[in-house]
Amino acid sequence: MNGILNEGNLSLKLVGSVLGEDVYAKNKSIPLLRKGTVLNERHIFVLQSHLNHNNLRLETCSIHQPSISVEELEQNYKESLGQLKSIFEDLEAAINGSASNQPLQQLEHMYTPMLNTIVAEDEHFELLKLLRKDDEFTYVHSLNVGVVSSIIGKLLAMDKEEILLLGETGILHDIGKLSIPLSVLKKNGQLDPEEWELIRNHTVEGVQILKNMGETRTKVIMGTLLHHERLDGSGYPYGVREDVIPFHAQIISVADTYDAITAVRPYKGEQSPIVAVMILMEETAKGKLSSAITVPFTKYLMDQFIGQQVLLNTGEQGTIITVYDDMPHCPLVYLGENVYIDLRFDHTRSLKDVVSY
Ligand SMILES: [Fe+2]
Repeated sequence: MNGILNEGNLSLKLVGSVLGEDVYAKNKSIPLLRKGTVLNERHIFVLQSHLNHNNLRLETCSIHQPSISVEELEQNYKESLGQLKSIFEDLEAAINGSASNQPLQQLEHMYTPMLNTIVAEDEHFELLKLLRKDDEFTYVHSLNVGVVSSIIGKLLAMDKEEILLLGETGILHDIGKLSIPLSVLKKNGQLDPEEWELIRNHTVEGVQILKNMGETRTKVIMGTLLHHERLDGSGYPYGVREDVIPFHAQIISVADTYDAITAVRPYKGEQSPIVAVMILMEETAKGKLSSAITVPFTKYLMDQFIGQQVLLNTGEQGTIITVYDDMPHCPLVYLGENVYIDLRFDHTRSLKDVVSY
């Protein structure tokens, strides 16, 4: 069903409508939103300040309502965290020889509800915001990486089995850390070569632990073994390159990096998803991470900040107006007084952070 958008009816009722033509800013030369954009709350907010023309053509579409509330999501995440904590404690005891149970099967019951939510929903940002930032404990970081990996799989339109497998691999990817003494894992200072070797070895150790527990799936094994490898050969433990690292393992690397940036660590505070976008794209430009993964993921993250105030490297503040598919980290920013900056073409300015998050 077609409709019309103008200043008179520009309201949240239009969320879910599809633009039937391109929309330009007031000086008519800057494209704000492209034909085919499905309007969300943030687009409506931007259009309220920047729409210049009346009677735009709209094609309406059905609105997807989230089937789960933020409260349920939070409950879901907290339950999974609690269960994973006790499973990892059992695993640690088993690995260190003081118990003999093999709790790998328990994991399935724990992760399924959490990951099924990701498969079923189209909006994931609330969940990303919920992830615990104090993730120095292996079980918290593991669940976070499982959640982020699954979300990336969903964004890449993978099928349900693949999304669940990514989640499971994320949850298991650092299992080798359970065999590293806490005094090394949490050391707040320079590691000596022996300690560093122990850390580097958590990937190989993780595979050994998984095999001992009967894990045979190649993707889980390779994701655990290769999540610290980088496409340019600069990673560890083997320094292998892109052609050897399966795509599935590359997704775990991106999710692991995202969680490391947004988490609080002994040496740094929490950083916003905008900072994570900039670092992920920097690592992509250096040839370390795959653009086939980072571009759709950072596009999704950047879309959440449309209409929000951001800080540029120059100290200027502006509003994100449009995020581009191919260069999501270089959006169109409105600085006020009719000045629109397209960061794709402005080489003196770049995005630094969101003003408040
Ligand atoms: Fe790791």
